[in-house]
Amino acid sequence: MQVSPFKNCGAVVSNLQLATMTDTELVELRNAFTEYGLLFFRDQDLPPQEHLRFANRFGSIVVNKFFKTSADSPQIAEVRKEKNQQTNIGGGWHTDHSYDDIPAMGSILVARTLPKTGGDTQFANLAAAYDALPSDLKTKIEGLRAIHSNTHLYGENGLYRLTDLNEQLGGMDRVGDATHPVVIKHPESGRKVLYVNPGHTIQFEGWDFAESRALLDELYAHVTQPQFTCSFNWLPGSVTFWDNRCTWHQANNDYQGQARLMHRITLAGSALDAA
Ligand code: OGA
Ligand code: MN
Repeated sequence: MQVSPFKNCGAVVSNLQLATMTDTELVELRNAFTEYGLLFFRDQDLPPQEHLRFANRFGSIVVNKFFKTSADSPQIAEVRKEKNQQTNIGGGWHTDHSYDDIPAMGSILVARTLPKTGGDTQFANLAAAYDALPSDLKTKIEGLRAIHSNTHLYGENGLYRLTDLNEQLGGMDRVGDATHPVVIKHPESGRKVLYVNPGHTIQFEGWDFAESRALLDELYAHVTQPQFTCSFNWLPGSVTFWDNRCTWHQANNDYQGQARLMHRITLAGSALDAA
């Protein structure tokens, strides 16, 4: 198994087949996951049952409350865009499930149907972004907590409900909020990480909306700089495994008229403590 840093975030793991890896390789993979928070794999043979088996070897599965699940398994979420559909899932920067009290640890995404071109996924490295924050901003966000929600996306009149993505979504009654520290101590690496994201963070606890908006926008402008982000182009057999506590991602929606289907399994995390 070989682990090579990838652009500005994450690493490519080669010489490893996820479906047949040994327990020793699994330990190495855990270490790489803790170090990089974002791993890319090529040329994998990972049919749904092997996708599930890998996920269960690594952690315990949590099911997304809103996405349709695959006919292969109720534990596999479909990230689907039909040929004639305009809106895609995850088209803006976000991290998965930050609206839960105990957010998901990671997500394992497997390519099933890909457009001829386009449909890359972009990632951001929130540990590196935190480290590079100007010290006045670090001081400003120390000790703050933020409210994360899904109501504005998946609730009645939520953004996604007003688009042609709606047919693929359920769970309108399962919306809710959670609050988390703005700077967390990563549960495994111990690193300080900026834990707010454009998709789900709505405001700082105890702050008004406009004040929150201004500081969030400042933080987001910092994170989306090229030195903290990268883009991954999917090929048949590609798999990506990201840590939701220290990355963001967004799916490019630049392949209108073509279908794209990904299978996602999400792994359970632990409560997040302030750094
Ligand atoms: C996800 C997601 C991105 C993509 O599965 O959580 O946001 O590129 N997907 O499909
Ligand atoms: Mn996502």
